[in-house]
Amino acid sequence: MEKNELLNPINIGNWHLKSKVVMAPMTRSFADNNTGTVGKDIVTYYRKRAKDGIGLIITEGINPSLRGKGTFGVPGLYTNSQVDAWQKVTEAVHEEGGKIVAQLWHVGRLTHRELTGGFPPQSPSIIKADGLVHRLRKPYETPEEMSKKDVKEVIQEYALAARNAIKAGFDGVEIHGAHGYLIDQFISEVTNKRTDEYGGDILNRLLFMKEVLNAVINEVGKERTIIRFSEIKDDIPDYKWANPEENIKAFIQVFKEIGIQIIHPSTNNFTKKMTDDMTFHQLVRKYWEGIIIGVGNLNTKIASEAIKEGTIDLAAFGRPLLANPDFINKIKEGQPIKSYQAAIDLKYLN
Ligand SMILES: Cc1cc2nc3c(=O)[nH]c(=O)nc-3n(C[C@H](O)[C@H](O)[C@H](O)COP(=O)(O)O)c2cc1C
Repeated sequence: MEKNELLNPINIGNWHLKSKVVMAPMTRSFADNNTGTVGKDIVTYYRKRAKDGIGLIITEGINPSLRGKGTFGVPGLYTNSQVDAWQKVTEAVHEEGGKIVAQLWHVGRLTHRELTGGFPPQSPSIIKADGLVHRLRKPYETPEEMSKKDVKEVIQEYALAARNAIKAGFDGVEIHGAHGYLIDQFISEVTNKRTDEYGGDILNRLLFMKEVLNAVINEVGKERTIIRFSEIKDDIPDYKWANPEENIKAFIQVFKEIGIQIIHPSTNNFTKKMTDDMTFHQLVRKYWEGIIIGVGNLNTKIASEAIKEGTIDLAAFGRPLLANPDFINKIKEGQPIKSYQAAIDLKYLN
């Protein structure tokens, strides 16, 4: 039997990845809610996936500051004790021959002062989100408009968290620029009504992302920085780009200007067409020759075909890896992949 394409190793920059399977970033809310530190249960959780043979683990979203926190039990990378705690995770993953990057996640307006140390949420403009804060179940608060000084400070917070990630032994970082959180709030015309250089046309709205990426790359290097971006927004289920191809071209223009090498376009449905004849990842590939991580309700067949035809280089799986900590082993042995059940798989850190 031919070996599944997902099981082949691959070298990306200085990383040697044991397989082409990536663990998608998934918030689990098992960190200490007061200190933002991770414990032994989280060390075991990531060690298990590295031991199974996942090529690259992207962690759950990690806050670069307390003000970037959007739900309970989210870890941080802005205190020494948080760095020390993460070090145990990275050591465990490395002992098993795996690679792990820290996803840096600032939620912007999608939070409440009860989670952010008493401060109002930050956002490019004073526009409140509809809906309730995750688990807190209170309406999102009206955010404060970030001044230019705030913008500079938040960029420095990302840079410091990236530096801390390397201190903690991570192999790199992923910047969460997707799903309607702070960076995406700058990118979207719905949430960004600024009249300074951070607002206006799409290239202006991408400036905040560009400055964050430049600051992070300055700390960790181009070959160790991943950017995640998307059309989808967690708080606006029906949101659509008016002109997907033009938007994608603008993103890629900026990525090329920065010199980033690994991009992670995020959708919940990899095979869904975004234009008449192309999916999100196919449109991205049309303009991008670098590394692409695919994601979105993938199964092993769709993922390995997409890699073979060149649409993507690596395939990220989220929910299947919660239900199957032995995902790679199951592919190797030809065993069925268990389907995800939120009631069980989210409740326990298996
Ligand atoms: C429980 C859970 C938590 C998630 N948390 C994050 C997150 O912290 N950061 C992020 O970028 N995406 C997050 N996502 C989205 C996943 O990374 C992934 O894109 C999505 O689940 C689609 O992949 P899948 O169909 O293989 O599950 C989360 C998804 C789930 C199911």
